[in-house]
Parts: sequence; structure tokens; C-alpha cells
Amino acid sequence: MKVLVIGPGGREHAIVRSLLRDPNVTEVHAAPGNAGIAEIVPTHRIDANDPAAVTALALRLESDLVVVGPEAPLAAGVADAVQAAGIPVFGPSRDAAQLEASKAFAKAVMAEAQVPTAMARVATTVEEAADALDAFGAPYVVKDDGLAAGKGVVVTEDRDEALAHAQSCFNVGGTVVIEEFLDGPEVSLFVLADGRSVVPLAPAQDFKRIFDGDEGPNTGGMGAYSPLEWVPANLVQDVIDRVAQPTIDEMARRGTPFTGVLYCGLALTSRGTRVIEFNARFGDPETQAVLARLKTPLGGVLMAAAKGQLEKIDELRWAPETAVAVVLASENYPDAPRTGGRIRGLKKARRLDGVHVLHAGTAVDDAGNTISAGGRVLAVVGLGVDLEDAREKAYAGMGQISLEGGQFRKDIAAKAARGEITVAGPAAHALGTNP
Ligand code: AMP
Ligand code: GLY
Repeated sequence: MKVLVIGPGGREHAIVRSLLRDPNVTEVHAAPGNAGIAEIVPTHRIDANDPAAVTALALRLESDLVVVGPEAPLAAGVADAVQAAGIPVFGPSRDAAQLEASKAFAKAVMAEAQVPTAMARVATTVEEAADALDAFGAPYVVKDDGLAAGKGVVVTEDRDEALAHAQSCFNVGGTVVIEEFLDGPEVSLFVLADGRSVVPLAPAQDFKRIFDGDEGPNTGGMGAYSPLEWVPANLVQDVIDRVAQPTIDEMARRGTPFTGVLYCGLALTSRGTRVIEFNARFGDPETQAVLARLKTPLGGVLMAAAKGQLEKIDELRWAPETAVAVVLASENYPDAPRTGGRIRGLKKARRLDGVHVLHAGTAVDDAGNTISAGGRVLAVVGLGVDLEDAREKAYAGMGQISLEGGQFRKDIAAKAARGEITVAGPAAHALGTNP
């Protein structure tokens, strides 16, 4: 099977790496990829958001499957175009990707499917925003309605800051969604969907804030680990039953069946599990941790989803190890990251036992040096017998790597390793098993 992977980031590097381990995958190409992806497969410089360009490349490469990584090409209709050319594609149509591209749309689908989520109001003026803020009370949650790479959300105790964020969205012609605050730990669960059936991957946790102790602004994600020892045993089945399957059913009922990853961003609140958000693709950097443990060959699974045949696949198999991914970001990320800095120590990091490095925003300069080329630069993944061991490995790898001004969190998975994450309320008393 020949597979073309679309996207430039760490998630795509993880996908490519897993595909290369699938004995039925004979060839992998990526577009545009990054410096790390280019070390392992041929890459192609095209505009990943251009449906015609992606389709032309897939036809030229005689790809059997196209895997679309990021949200922007999905929202631009890349999957529709590839599908129309007769090539199986892993990733939702433009209409189905609205589950991520519009928070207001996602809320409407959840309401129809009776999926538990935060109460929310859409606001288009400062007056409406102020009313909604006062109705829900502090802490305030204000979300830009459109795609914002995880950075469009402000959670604050400060009413003026909440209003200012709403105003800044209105200033550029946007709308906002204002929500009740959800307490409790967050879980990312990736659910593969083929339009009708669903298959869950192992749950992961993501670290959204830039600084240790969950301080500072939201980012695309600064680290992740999987599996989660502390989640209630029936969490995955519960999310399938009450969130993922009803959502997939509702999308099919609307005539916009969803194929790809339904990324369920969940809060395990004191009143039960709630959806914080849906994404229409694998999460980054959770994918780097989740796929590090997947033993079932990935190509076959993604092809089954693309062809509407998920019901036919065997139960997924997982390595017993724990994976921790720590992200190295550029100086000044997430504001205006400084790029172009030389990255040293990659080879040394890779030589460590149980460590691999997945590139995100990297490039090669004229002198052949690997340099930073984006906000998030790379992730170091450690695979260990437990969280402590995996953390040690990931941080040992990071210790070998240097980038001027580079920043990474020192506390990825630390709280979980210390056994300090607790789930309160109904979500805590559950039965069953997790992958
Ligand atoms: P989103 O882009 O919707 O995933 O939001 C980004 C992050 O903001 C989430 O991962 C949460 O940490 C936080 N967040 C979003 N919505 C809420 C909410 N209703 N209550 C508490 N935190 C939230
Ligand atoms: N890690 C969060 C995201 O991929 O949106």
C-alpha cells in the first residue's frame, strides 16, 4: 500500500513513522513534511491547503490512501477533492470538519445528539458577551468561534480580560462562544470513525499552557502522555456510548458522515464527563505519545476507516510501556516565535535507549543545518516501564538538544507520576477496562 501523508508537523512525523512500521505499507510520501520527515520519506513542496494540488500529487504518486493530518486542509476541502478523484482518504469532508472549524456548529450537533458538554451561548456583540459572562459567572471562558490552533480560548477570573478577548474577536468580524467553566482533569480521546462505526485509541493527556504549573497562555500543546493510569476504568466505553457514537450517528443523519479521527477533548468534572471541544483530526502532541504505543499496523487501520470497514478490524494492540512526549518550542512562542535558530544534539538524543525525536517546525538551511521553523519545533518521546521512567527518558533526550531561546515544560506528566490527579464525582465510580 502506498500512502501520502499531508501536513507539516509533529503529528505527521509520528504518523509517517508508524506507517513505515506497517509491513503492508510499501511506500510513504509526505507533503510538505518537515526536516525530520524528509529524513525518512520523500517529501513534496506543495500547498497542503490546496485541494487540487494535493489531489494531483496523490494521483501522480498513485497513492492508495491519503492521510490528512491538520485541520486547515480539512476545512479547505482537501479530503473531498481526493475522495472525488477516487482515492480513499483518511480525514473528514469539509462539511464534517465543521465539528472542529466552528465551535457553534459543534455545540449544535452535541445538543441534537444529547452529548454532555458545557452550557454555552453564542455572542456577536459586546452586550451579548457581557450578558453571557454574567449568566455563567467566573471563571470566564471565551472562545473564538473559528479555527485558532488551540490559541483562541481565554479562561480567566478577570471579567475585563474576558470582555477584551470577545471584543478582539468582534473587531475582526468574528463571533464568540461563551461557556460555563468546567472543573476537573482533561483527557484527549481519539476515536477513529468510518462514517458509521467507531474505534477508540488509548486516552492521553495534553498540556495546553506554555509554562510549568499550567501558567501562561494557551498553546497548541506543550507535551503529552499515554496511557492514563488515573482515569476511571469505563471512561473509554462511556465516551463511546454517550459522546462519540451519538455524534457520528448525528453527522450521518445530517448527510455529512464523519470519516477520520473524532478527537474528543474531555473534562472529567465533578458532575461527570463533559466535552470541552471536538477536533476533526489527531491531536498534537498527543499523537506522538499515543502512536508510540500502538502495535497494530497503522496503515491497515487508517485504510479500514477510509473505506468504511472499521467493523472488520481486530481489536487494537498496545505496547505495555508508557509514553511521554515533551515539546521544545521557539523563543517567544506562542506570541511571535523567533525561528531560524540552529538545533543541536538531535543525533545524541536519538541514540538514547527508549527515546525518539519527532520534528514539528524544522527546516534545513543552506549549510545543511537543522533549524527551527515554527512555534513548536519538535517533541522528544520517551517510552518507559512507567511514567517516571518514560519521563526520565524524554527529559534525558531533551537534555541533549539545544536551541537558543528554546523553551520546554519541566513538569509534563509529573503530577500523574506522583499520583496526584484525582477524579471527583460520578466519573470516578466506573467499571470496565481501558485500552
Ligand atoms: P479548546 O480550544 O476549546 O480546546 O480550549 C482550549 C483549552 O481551554 C482547553 O483544553 C481547556 O484547558 C480550556 N477550556 C476550554 N473550554 C473550557 C471550559 N468550558 N472550562 C474550562 N476550561 C476550558
Ligand atoms: N493538542 C491539542 C490539539 O491538537 O488541538
